[in-house]
Amino acid sequence: LWLILGIRRRQPGEPPVENGLIPYLGCALQFGANPLEFLRSRQKRYGHIFTCKIAGQYVHFLCDPFSYHSVIRQGRHLDWKKFHFSASVKAFGHESMDPSHGYTTENLHQTFLKTLQGDALPALIETMMENLQTVMLRSDTLKVSSTEWEVDGLFAFCYKVMFESGYLTLFGKELEDGQGDDKSHARQQAQKALVLNALENFKEFDKIFPALVAGLPIHVFKSGHSARENLAKTMLHENLSKRANISDLISLRMLLNDTLSSFNDLSKARTHVALLWASQANTLPATFWTLFYMIRSPEAMKAASEEVRRTFESSDQKPDPMDPHLVLTREQLDNMPVLDSIIKEAMRLSSASLNVRVAKEDFLLHLDNKESYRIRKDDVIALYPQMLHFDPEIYEDPLTYKYDRYLDENGQEKTSFYRNGRKLRYYYMPFGSGVTKCPGRFFAVHEIKQFLSLALTYFDLELLDPEVKVPPLDQSRAGLGILQPTYDVDFRYRLKAQ
Ligand code: HEM
Repeated sequence: LWLILGIRRRQPGEPPVENGLIPYLGCALQFGANPLEFLRSRQKRYGHIFTCKIAGQYVHFLCDPFSYHSVIRQGRHLDWKKFHFSASVKAFGHESMDPSHGYTTENLHQTFLKTLQGDALPALIETMMENLQTVMLRSDTLKVSSTEWEVDGLFAFCYKVMFESGYLTLFGKELEDGQGDDKSHARQQAQKALVLNALENFKEFDKIFPALVAGLPIHVFKSGHSARENLAKTMLHENLSKRANISDLISLRMLLNDTLSSFNDLSKARTHVALLWASQANTLPATFWTLFYMIRSPEAMKAASEEVRRTFESSDQKPDPMDPHLVLTREQLDNMPVLDSIIKEAMRLSSASLNVRVAKEDFLLHLDNKESYRIRKDDVIALYPQMLHFDPEIYEDPLTYKYDRYLDENGQEKTSFYRNGRKLRYYYMPFGSGVTKCPGRFFAVHEIKQFLSLALTYFDLELLDPEVKVPPLDQSRAGLGILQPTYDVDFRYRLKAQ
């Protein structure tokens, strides 16, 4: 009977198991409704490690932060690619990018490291800084005036500024043909329309993303489906090759698609849609939460504004909204501990990523407390860092925003966090862990710092209601990264008197 129902019985040496009440789905609904609450209640009942059946899969949740390192260290038994590759195929519809499936020999991990980190970073940062200033001040994305306040939703504001700037930074601009002002004006209009269309399609597709990852077929969602296909059309290689200033990431991926893969044209385009999603889906809500919490806290605003002013002054730069060419080097960006702490604290409060690995074979998982558990082949091991981020023993008053939580007594980055008097190696994980850690994390933090620096320098920013409540997190996306607010918050902005 157990076998027919697909129910697992705990074997000696295995973690406690909960099959849930519904065949196949198991605990999926309870978990999905509020993952944090679900995991906390199971942790109380079972301890540091327990197994839940979720949508046909047995998932071992590991809740002891001191044991996170054990999972990362015992990586040879675990496959992180399997889950990623299959989630990406389900959501974006390209052929498999797993080299073992035979469609491509590209090592994606290497591609990402080479084009998003190290020597590739300065060029990305420089282009992003230019694009941010163009979008904020020189295109008609925003209504900027030095006399009139403009009211807007804060999420809407962050969304349009970051999406457009990030899109142009990765995917470049329409080639200029240099044939006089009229033509160039028309090109700018076309460029603008393309980005606006991409933004609308992205929003529509992003809505159905959680359902796709959960395994629902895209055909069920008419407008989400056509949004994804519209995005893919703009990213066919014949269209991308007409663009100038494409990032190293996208140009290398185009080359490797063409030389190492047997993908058809549409599949190639869909791999680029996947990167558009990876580069924007977390960054947009992260920028919102960072700006929202900062504006809402007068101390955070003051400390951030001072740091930004000092940074521009130290390199003799004066803001001029009529000729906006401020520059922040990588060294300067790395040297802004206040903004760093402000970004970390906002992400601590809004991140709900699930770190997942699949067992390649039966093996014994050794935990920090010297206990060991038997794990079966194809089972999933999951870490849910929100448990860490909201643990009152690690973070006092975990639901309270403290902009300087990640600053030490000298105003520098704080890296010592404790639980039960023991120093933690892992205390902040919105970017994942180990080999699957987000390869775009340095660029992500830099672009948010650039956004904040420019917004604080060029604009006066005020919430319409300074005491406005924090909008709740949209839990339907739990597991996928930074959560969105369930509703937008009104604010107003105007050009600062320089
Ligand atoms: C993967 C977070 C911004 C590129 C991931 C993962 C997380 C994450 C949690 C999955 C890691 C895992 O499964 O363990 C974030 C957050 C961001 C951000 C919180 C912003 C605040 C970016 C940006 C880019 C980027 C700006 C690129 C420009 C990627 C890529 C992957 C990834 C390519 C897939 C890596 C792989 O499968 O090997 N990100 N990310 N991310 N991220 Fe980010």
